[in-house]
Amino acid sequence: MSVKLIQDLRYGDTGKGKISAYESDPARCDVSVRAVGGGNAGHVIMRDTRKISLHILPAGCIHEGVDLVLGRGMVTHLPTLFDDIREAHAQFQSNPVGRLVIAPENHILLNGHKRADAELERRRGNDTVGTTGSGIGPAYADKAMRVGMRMEALRKSPAELKDMYRSLLLHWAATYNVILTPQEEQQDIETLLKGKDRLEDKIQKDMAAYWQKKFDKQARITIEGAQGSLLSIDNGGYPYVTSSPTTTAGHMQGAGIPVRELNEVIGTFKAYDTRVGGGPLLTRMDAEAEQRFQDKGGERGSTTGRLRSTAWLNLSDTQKRAWEEAVTSLAVLKADIFDGESEIPVAIDVDGEGRPLYKRYPMWKESIRGIRKFDDLPDEAQFFYTDISTRIGTPIRYIGTGPDHDDLIVMD
Ligand code: IMP
Repeated sequence: MSVKLIQDLRYGDTGKGKISAYESDPARCDVSVRAVGGGNAGHVIMRDTRKISLHILPAGCIHEGVDLVLGRGMVTHLPTLFDDIREAHAQFQSNPVGRLVIAPENHILLNGHKRADAELERRRGNDTVGTTGSGIGPAYADKAMRVGMRMEALRKSPAELKDMYRSLLLHWAATYNVILTPQEEQQDIETLLKGKDRLEDKIQKDMAAYWQKKFDKQARITIEGAQGSLLSIDNGGYPYVTSSPTTTAGHMQGAGIPVRELNEVIGTFKAYDTRVGGGPLLTRMDAEAEQRFQDKGGERGSTTGRLRSTAWLNLSDTQKRAWEEAVTSLAVLKADIFDGESEIPVAIDVDGEGRPLYKRYPMWKESIRGIRKFDDLPDEAQFFYTDISTRIGTPIRYIGTGPDHDDLIVMD
């Protein structure tokens, strides 16, 4: 039996999708879990010529024979879930619905939440959070105000569901001054009825009973982190954060698995930092370098299509996040984007005023794209990875060497 978590140590978008897809292969995994967040997440998985961008389903959906858990810490937009299911079927011929396991406490995100998200951003004027516009903040706010609708509501009769929905309409009007159009209301009601029709029997009565059965069978469980440590609701970067706890502890709470059962935390980060949405970025590149890396790295948000701000790797901060998240190994992604550069700065400390202090790493002459063995990497690349690992104080388990699923070095 094992419980593994793939934890993004930065602002999301560090390549978790690739590691999650590898770790949720049936050779290594029986249960693939999403624990927190919702459709704001965007995991891109590329395999051969196939590409899928997932928002709600965990990466295990591309494989057969793996349970797909949507945990209690999530807020789920049902149409986005249906889109993911369709995509997984179209691209990977898999049947995710048959393997879905939904926590009854998982909250349903509706049109009113999206409208309220836009309204709250509008009220902030020039100081927006830069949310993904997916309704995440208001869905979690409704949960905290104890007025939200949970997945277990889909067990109610259609008439009761509609009544619950009408109470929400009044709440949104009173709280956010959001009045839905008749079309938006109708769409939400149809979504709820479709959800009831397709998902009711996937909603568990008791997740603890489900997990205990899996533990009795020695199941191998992979939890796919959402967003990243620096976007967690309790992070110092508030208010430029998301609305759920996207940390190791938050993912365990969201999955509903006892903390003591966690065996492994794989901390992911890229060889440079990116951020999408508002908020500062300490080691931000100059405009010319930023544009170069945005182009080379395809740094555009997979949920919103926004360009990601790009910065040199803040290793001293990554080291702190790795400590906080109790990582047991590291996954370093996308250093292949440095192919063709002569040297790259990495922030290894800060001075008394909090300004970054850089170490410059010489880069490699040959491309590292697609290399699958550490020993085949050029000396400069070996030094780069080894030094980063030493500074964080944690061994590297995975090195990403290109966009495809198989462009991966797996360390012993
Ligand atoms: P929200 O989660 O949509 O409320 O957005 C809050 C902040 O988190 C914004 O800066 C978003 O750009 C950022 N964010 C949310 N989800 C992701 C993600 O999956 N990757 C990167 N940034 C994200």
